[in-house]
Amino acid sequence: MTKPESKDKPWGGRFSEATDAFVERFTASISFDRRLYLHDIQGSVAHAKMLAKVGVLTEREQNDILTGLEEIKQEVEDGNFDWSVQLEDVHMNIEARLTEKIGVTGKKLHTGRSRNDQIATDIRLFLRDEIDLISAELQRLIGGLADLAEREAATIMPGFTHLQTAQPVTFGHHLLAWVEMLKRDYLRLHDCRTRVNVMPLGAAALAGTTYPIERHLTAELLGFSGIAENSLDAVSDRDFAIEFCSFASLLLMHLSRFSEELVLWTSAQFNFINLPDRFCTGSSIMPQKKNPDVPELVRGKTGRVYGDLMSLLTLMKSQPLAYNKDNQEDKEPLFDAVDTVKDCLKAYADMVPSIQTKPVFMQEAARRGFSTATDLADYLVRGGMPFRDAHEVVGKAVAFGLSEDKDLSEMSLAELQQFSAAIKADVFDVLTLEGSVQARNHLGGTAPEQVKAAVNRTRQWLQEP
Ligand code: ARG
Repeated sequence: MTKPESKDKPWGGRFSEATDAFVERFTASISFDRRLYLHDIQGSVAHAKMLAKVGVLTEREQNDILTGLEEIKQEVEDGNFDWSVQLEDVHMNIEARLTEKIGVTGKKLHTGRSRNDQIATDIRLFLRDEIDLISAELQRLIGGLADLAEREAATIMPGFTHLQTAQPVTFGHHLLAWVEMLKRDYLRLHDCRTRVNVMPLGAAALAGTTYPIERHLTAELLGFSGIAENSLDAVSDRDFAIEFCSFASLLLMHLSRFSEELVLWTSAQFNFINLPDRFCTGSSIMPQKKNPDVPELVRGKTGRVYGDLMSLLTLMKSQPLAYNKDNQEDKEPLFDAVDTVKDCLKAYADMVPSIQTKPVFMQEAARRGFSTATDLADYLVRGGMPFRDAHEVVGKAVAFGLSEDKDLSEMSLAELQQFSAAIKADVFDVLTLEGSVQARNHLGGTAPEQVKAAVNRTRQWLQEP
């Protein structure tokens, strides 16, 4: 076999020696951009149809190209496509194979196009598909949380600030806090999609093309809702990928906080919930262990997604217009963010419906932490005492409770009355946990009735987010 020469490359015309073997490997992207083959073919099909429509390709040439591309797609899917590093990237691999299959017509496909607008188009088509999958998965998770919130609408647990017991809340209400975060993530993703769904094709290398192209036609064939206005911006812009990674970073930050709570709650110290065995693993040395690996890993994966965002921001910050080879480095971080988001969402959407609560322990934890102290203060205020004075009175009662190892609700009326004569027998209605959560019965409050109403609103939102 003869040694390959640079002049054998699709761009080899002006070269007189072969590419250095290391440089060939160093500059190639085929090891990772072959993942875009489907979207590359999709873009080429639309481009060829447009070229035929405007008379740059004949009907026959168009048909040969479409048949060839269809066969190539099949070859890739069957694992019969021979990807070559010499051919650098997914675009040239497919084009070379097309020419091998259909002859000289294959060389006409690239008319009025450059790899610069081609790659920008491929990534957008790829990301648009992935966004639609991620969007559906996010909805599945939100739906699962709403179902669980409904089931646990009246389950009482301690609510925390500073991770210290603060006031009783319902578990359903706590779950719906996560729903709110995820709804914002969903809307951010949706907004990002509008800027992903813009077509660069037609920008060619950077300045547009001399052929009578019909960009509207190509855009319509590819389902793009907009066309990039400026050819220089079209080939260089990667904002949409950065926006996706920003969305991904916020989402993972939320899932990481969620994970942190699940990890705490499965511990013997909290003992609030149980995760089924299928979402946990054991220890090779400590036979008693059941570890919450899935939430821990999601928490851990958050860092790599932040890294993907940082990579892309840094990749773009010093690039002059228009396309630069730097942009080849956009794919791996983007792919990584997409894959990580999909895996983490799947893990959570599968796991959430199976979270088992331990209501007795949750209730007991809420009872132990003087969580109805604010309710006692509010009771005194309703009797006419200024809030600051009420705060002082209850603080003294709590100090007494600490020394006697008694919660407020466990003290006798006489004991409570040491701190204020305004305390009457009806005080015990407000010192119960149930009374406390039921009393916060307004929009956004923790009362079971409000949880059920919020679940219904979430379900409505899911119909038309
Ligand atoms: N593999 C390249 C990338 O991923 C495709 C575009 C290359 N264009 C060029 N003029 N070298 O960005």
